[in-house]
Order: sequence, then C-alpha cells, then structure tokens
Amino acid sequence: MEPHIVKGNHPVMEKIFQICDRVAPTDSTVLIQGESGTGKELVARYIHARSRRANNPFIAVNCGAIPADLLESEMFGHEKGAFTGAVAARMGLFQYANGGTIFLDEIGEMPPALQVKLLRVLQEREIRPVGADRTVRVDVRVIAATNRDLSADVKSGRFREDLFYRLQVIPITIPPLRERRSDIPLFVQYFLDKHNSQRPGQPVRISDEAMVHLWEYDWPGNVRELENLIERLVILSEDGVIRVENLPPNIRTFISDKKIPRPTLTDEGIDLNRAVEEFEYRLIDEALRRTKGNKQAAARLLGLKRTTLVAKLRRKANSSDQGCVL
Ligand SMILES: Nc1ncnc2c1ncn2[C@@H]1O[C@H](COP(=O)(O)OP(=O)(O)OP(=O)(O)O)[C@@H](O)[C@H]1O
Ligand SMILES: [Mg+2]
Repeated sequence: MEPHIVKGNHPVMEKIFQICDRVAPTDSTVLIQGESGTGKELVARYIHARSRRANNPFIAVNCGAIPADLLESEMFGHEKGAFTGAVAARMGLFQYANGGTIFLDEIGEMPPALQVKLLRVLQEREIRPVGADRTVRVDVRVIAATNRDLSADVKSGRFREDLFYRLQVIPITIPPLRERRSDIPLFVQYFLDKHNSQRPGQPVRISDEAMVHLWEYDWPGNVRELENLIERLVILSEDGVIRVENLPPNIRTFISDKKIPRPTLTDEGIDLNRAVEEFEYRLIDEALRRTKGNKQAAARLLGLKRTTLVAKLRRKANSSDQGCVL
C-alpha cells in the first residue's frame, strides 16, 4: 500500500517525486540522503509501493541499531553451528525480502567488513549465509539511506568508495524542512487533519500568527519534529485554537533571536535611548512585514493594542531623521 505522503509544492520536492516515479519500476539501487526526520524511509516505501515488487515484502534494516557482529547473520542468515549459539540454521533478511525491497537504513554505520560483502551482493545478486560454503540467489531491490555525509565518509576512509558508487546509482537528497518552508503550511494542515481525525469534538485549528512562527522556525528535527509538535498541540488544546502562546518557548523566541540583530555595548559606549528606539522599530517593521501590513495582526504579534502600535507608527513618521517604517 502506498504510504500517506505529502508531496508538497516545492520545486525540489516535485523533482524528487518525479525521480521516484521514474526509478520505481526499475531494479536500480537508490541512495537516499537527508537530515533526520526529512522523510527518507517514507520515500523508500513510496518507491517500493510503486514498483512491481509492491505485493512482496518491504524490509527495513537499521544498520546502526544492530550490533556489528550480529548484523551479517541478520542480513544474510547463518548455518547451524556457524557460531556459538547458532543452534539452527536461520534465514537472513535478504531472503525474507525476496521478490521485494530491502531498506538499509543508516548505511553509513555499516562496519567495513560487511561493506565488502554488501558490494558483492549488489554485484552478484547472491548472498552467502554466515558459515555456509554455498551462495543463495536473491531477487531483492536495495534502497539505502543515511543522514551522514557519505561522500565525506568516503574521503575519510570510513566508507568504501566502490560501495558508495554502487549504491548511489540513483541518488536522492531530501532537503531539510527549512529549505522548503513554503510547504510548512501544507504539512501543518495535513498533521492537523490527521490528529484531529483521531479524536472526538471540534477540530483544532491554528492561528495565522502561530503559523508564521512555524514557518520561520528552523526545524532541526524536520518533518518528524513538526508532526510531533502538532500532535501534542492538538491533544493539549483547550479552546480549539493553537496560538503563539501555546507554542514551545524555543519556537516563540526563535523569530526575534533570528531576525533582529541585538544592539551590543561596545567600548565606545552606546546611546541607550536611540538603541532601544531602533530595536523597537525593527521589531515593529518585522511584525508588519510578516503580517503583510495588517496592523491588527502585527499589534497582536507584538503584544500591543492596535491603538498603541498606530501611535508608535505616527510618532515614528513624525521623527524626520529615521525614515518611516511603512
Ligand atoms: N512528505 C511527508 N509526508 C507525510 N509525512 C512525512 C513526510 N516526510 C516525513 N514525514 C513523517 O515524518 C516522520 C519522519 O519520516 P521518516 O521516518 O521517513 O524520516 P527519516 O528521514 O527516515 O528520519 P531518520 O533519519 O530520523 O530515520 C514520519 O512520521 C513520517 O511519516
Ligand atoms: Mg528513518
């Protein structure tokens, strides 16, 4: 089944899904790179769902989570007596994935000895269970993913160059959310709908100003961080509206920290009144820009009454030396 996925309208994402649609019917190996939470696994599932393998297994292996000495037998299986504790022969995940897709997550964590073996599998399309002197043919499509910079790992010798090239026949790099901000409202609405539908009562909505904050935030945890936040806000909402004051402090302070340079006290000293005034007008300017000149909304963003904001603007317009913010 195709996973629920927001494709977004950002040109880079449109391009990525075009590539996915083109490679899905092939057996080519795909390497998906991107920061944590950008949707690498979802994209891998999407490719699988659109391939001729869709009715066969999609098996995800987290190469970083399985102890190095177990990973080989996990992937390729083992013969009875291959090592202490191997009381019976066991199939590996490659065999379970036969006819389908294997998703090698965190491929950058794969130990070097296993990297050689994986390269062989990709070239020969056959695996050798641990302790076996026979090989087994497998028909498996490999999709690998990593949030490390694999080309840097190749340069530093951490990752085999030949395997890197063999994996990235089709390279896909998913940009972090902050590089496709225009899709944030789409994601917010999608996750609101998703989590609203899982609870009774009036659907929770989000205020325009809160949305502006989500737009501006940098999302180090990308889509996962956004989804977790929306889920929490929907559950905790008391009056059905997510407002700026409901957002976590790091997001609330983010805009001012990011956008507004702080006046600093140098050895030459500072004109405090002037600095405070400048700071004030920068924030007002910023609020108006964000709200497309809507004074009511800008005043709310600044925690002022509309009349107070208008008075400040009038004073500003009257003081000739600093120019007008409008
Ligand atoms: N385009 C999208 N549409 C809908 N949900 C998305 C999208 N991208 C990511 N998500 C959601 O964000 C979360 C993280 O996605 P996923 O697990 O695919 O990311 P990842 O890149 O594999 O992260 P990690 O590197 O941490 O493993 C999931 O809950 C997923 O459903
Ligand atoms: Mg993942």
